[in-house]
Amino acid sequence: MWPKDALKRMVRALPGGRHLATLYRFMQGTDARYASLWRRSPPGLFQPFATTGVDRYPRMFAFARDHLGDGPDRRILSFGCSTGEEVFSLRRYFPQATIRGIDINPRNIARAQASLARRGDDRLSFAVAASAAGQGTGNHDAVFALAIFRHGELGDFPPTCSHLLRFADFEQSLAELSACLKPGGLLFLRHSNFRFQDTKLSAGFDLLLEGPRSPKTPLYGRDDALMPSTPALEGVAWRKHGP
Ligand SMILES: C[S@@+](CC[C@H](N)C(=O)[O-])C[C@H]1O[C@@H](n2cnc3c(N)ncnc32)[C@H](O)[C@@H]1O
Repeated sequence: MWPKDALKRMVRALPGGRHLATLYRFMQGTDARYASLWRRSPPGLFQPFATTGVDRYPRMFAFARDHLGDGPDRRILSFGCSTGEEVFSLRRYFPQATIRGIDINPRNIARAQASLARRGDDRLSFAVAASAAGQGTGNHDAVFALAIFRHGELGDFPPTCSHLLRFADFEQSLAELSACLKPGGLLFLRHSNFRFQDTKLSAGFDLLLEGPRSPKTPLYGRDDALMPSTPALEGVAWRKHGP
């Protein structure tokens, strides 16, 4: 019998193999939410997979809390919050802050809202949105965009990513996230297929924290072309210039 990974690689190498693999996953019911979103490909979609977990980024969350402090005036945005675990985890680090999670996938948000209804917390909220454009201007202390600016179908390191992701969309989305940060606010990025320092926007930020980059995550440049090598570290926390 073929080892599962070898079989998966063979199927994905066939013409249309990626679509076959997705259809198979859908029929198995293992990630129906992903398959449904992928078929519709809504404008602005980055990572369609909803993979998430409780306290998935403890170092980053603790760094944010230590840097910003908690308080009822603190406001945090989780962009691409999936089914809400990121927001509920942040609540443990920021017991008093107002925290909002947004996600492009209505099924993820419905699940997050159902969990919230069971917990009852009027300073947490969730909404369906494909960008931060509606989240106000200069009113957030921290924005988390974790495992969103990537695509799970790029795992074979194709020479371009433009069929799935475009640097221009990444830069535009970051401009919207930056606009809703206060001066001095923190931007957290993780597991991206692009680098923040390649955007023009990054000139308005200082790098505060780096973390190890996964060698399984290919990196693409401003032209959507695969970079020849991936550095060992990635910038994960950036501070917007200001007081
Ligand atoms: C891999 S999950 C990351 C979840 C969480 N941030 C984490 O790291 O555990 C990626 C999420 O990004 C969402 N997403 C993709 N494109 C988006 C967009 N343009 N706006 C909002 N959410 C988006 C997907 O629906 C999915 O829930």
